Amino acid sequence: MKEESRKQLLFVEAIKTDIINSIERNAPIIGNRNPMVGAGPNDHSWVYPEDYFWTDSFWTGQLWFAYMITGKTEYKNMARMRNAHLNKILDTPLWLNHDLGFEFSLSAVADYKLTGCQEARKLGLRAAEALRSRYNWHGKYILAWTAGSGNKAHAESVQGKIIIDCMENLSLLMWAYHETNNESFKEAAIGHAETSMKYIIRDDYSTYHTYDFDPATNAPIGGKTHQGYADESCWSRGQAWAIHGYAQLALITGEQKFAEVSEKCTEYMLSKITEDFVPVWDYLLPKNEIQYKDTSAGAVTSAGLFILSELFKSYGDQDKSDYYRELGMKMLIALRDNYDLTDDINAQGLLSDSASSVPHAKLRDQENLANAMLPYGDYYYFEAVLRALGHKDLFW
Ligand code: GLY
Repeated sequence: MKEESRKQLLFVEAIKTDIINSIERNAPIIGNRNPMVGAGPNDHSWVYPEDYFWTDSFWTGQLWFAYMITGKTEYKNMARMRNAHLNKILDTPLWLNHDLGFEFSLSAVADYKLTGCQEARKLGLRAAEALRSRYNWHGKYILAWTAGSGNKAHAESVQGKIIIDCMENLSLLMWAYHETNNESFKEAAIGHAETSMKYIIRDDYSTYHTYDFDPATNAPIGGKTHQGYADESCWSRGQAWAIHGYAQLALITGEQKFAEVSEKCTEYMLSKITEDFVPVWDYLLPKNEIQYKDTSAGAVTSAGLFILSELFKSYGDQDKSDYYRELGMKMLIALRDNYDLTDDINAQGLLSDSASSVPHAKLRDQENLANAMLPYGDYYYFEAVLRALGHKDLFW
């Protein structure tokens, strides 16, 4: 092994060890709860939702990684403690949305893949059915959100809406397809990915956060943002969901056209990213705005770049594989060197400086929504580390 590669592996192994130590330290503090967002830029404790929030399985996913690496039963048992709540999600119509993929791939599917547990398989398949039921077979898209009874404008706005984040949720459908051989799961996953390619991915391979269709006719209406700076800007976590999501779909389906989308979205990211190689929360943010970082976008992107590296290796293109690995490593190193919290014994998470939603931070005057830890930043940081170390068969 070349000296440089050996050094890289030692560097990444050290992050892995620090992450496991942090998880071991924080597991008794977090208990059977769902970390939602960090308390603030300098307060590295977690805030938890009262009942439902889409982040449910990012901590659970880290517990399953910890179990996968250490074999310690306590991580498996802790992860399974969330099952009661996960069942409740499936029993609560207003809690159902496209996030079912995040919620169940990193919990039930992880459990089934690691332990063969049949109850976990059943739970995962139930979630996949619920996700498939959100697919509009005529419009060929998965509806992102569910309207409650309270807010009429919101109810109207979600009727025909898709979002780029949903790319991550297609793996649950593909897993269900492989488990059951039922083509309808695959049809929904591929249909949604193709619709998103056509409408959410712009010609320059930047991304809209959301895209609306007329719910009566499914005619395309236009792109909008929810968490980005503006409708026509490029929210960096959305771009990361595209890079990771399309690469992952290429890996699962074997369809190279999805890898090409991920590559082009990466090119766009490279044309905009700052020299420190950690995304600002929006790639088209005007200079007069506060340049909050979003390390969660960096972690998702880094994990996605490692998937691209693996894909091109399997296509026999070693140069491209090396190129994407180096990019993934560069981002991982930038995160480790500047935002890693694992040596802070008071930190309950792994990465500082993530932006949940800057527009909502402004609306609610809540700084932690613009700059704090995020459980998905942490999960994808761990995933990037494992991919850098050569782990391939993860939970998606
Ligand atoms: N999926 C929601 C987010 O990325 O904030």
